[in-house]
Amino acid sequence: MSLRIAVVKGDGIGPEVIPEAQKILEHFLTDADFFEVELGLAKWEKTGSACSPDDIRELKGADAIIFGAVTTPPDPDYRSVLLQIRHELDLYANLRPIRSLRPNPDGSFVDMMIVRENTEGLYSGIEEIGTERSTTLRVVTKAGSRRIAEKACSLVLKRNRNHQLVIGYKGNVLKSDLLFRDTCSEVASSFGIQTKAVFIDALCLDVLQHPNNYDVIVTTNMFGDILSDVCGYLTGGLGMLPSANIGEKYAFFEPVHGSAPDIAGKGIANPVAAVRSAAMMLEYFGMKQQACLVEESIADLINSGVCTPDLGGCESTSSFGSRLIAVVCKKEERKI
Ligand code: IPM
Ligand code: MG
Repeated sequence: MSLRIAVVKGDGIGPEVIPEAQKILEHFLTDADFFEVELGLAKWEKTGSACSPDDIRELKGADAIIFGAVTTPPDPDYRSVLLQIRHELDLYANLRPIRSLRPNPDGSFVDMMIVRENTEGLYSGIEEIGTERSTTLRVVTKAGSRRIAEKACSLVLKRNRNHQLVIGYKGNVLKSDLLFRDTCSEVASSFGIQTKAVFIDALCLDVLQHPNNYDVIVTTNMFGDILSDVCGYLTGGLGMLPSANIGEKYAFFEPVHGSAPDIAGKGIANPVAAVRSAAMMLEYFGMKQQACLVEESIADLINSGVCTPDLGGCESTSSFGSRLIAVVCKKEERKI
């Protein structure tokens, strides 16, 4: 049976970057069936629903989903599509690799993995909105902490680098984080992995100052959201960062960036984050070599100055994508 891949372009720059990611997927997954699912603000404006139960059913019918970005208005009655999908597909692990493609001044490369818990914490959706007082319930469960810690530990072993798991938390203020920290430590010791628990505010600074000290960092939902944007500083900005949202049954790949309405429609959005998300999908399907080839090809282009304006170049979204496919093909010929 051929793979079924759902393609969600979404809003803003989503429809610009996703075709470039799809080109890469079509190149390697020649037998796959691609089908589009329309979701997001534009759909909400047209139909009154940003993501219907039928849409969720369609997504669940896919072997994997590639997703661009959706715009979420700060309206108390509008439910974030992304959060709805993460919740309904139980995509509990948000894997955010922070890998630089350009060398640092000392010749080193940043290479770490943020493992963000993706279904609980401040994203519980349990809120009471009032005019005098509004609250959001921050939920940390033992089971939720355990499964994300297990995912993080398996990545520590797979990556085989410093064999240490860093736990980003804020247990001095948020006592719920002590359950998170202690559960992560318990799981890590059962894997034979050392842990270091660091307060998230100090961690945000230290990863910028000493990125090479880090390998895998596990943290709660909102802290992982913030930390991954912070780490964009190490890699050339948010246009560079991919992610994988993984559950027991479903897998969903998306750039870390949002819909960027300020640059939408101009053809200048950097498609690298979306393309690298596609490469993460290839790796998920066991095509590690092909994923590496995509990463190497992106690095070659960027290091020779072929890039979009956010990185100082003058390529458009689609011209970068076309040049990327050409480099991928050339590398493949050389390897045959
Ligand atoms: C992300 C985004 C989302 C989040 C928003 C768009 C709901 O910022 O994927 O990092 O907060 O998780
Ligand atoms: Mg974010």
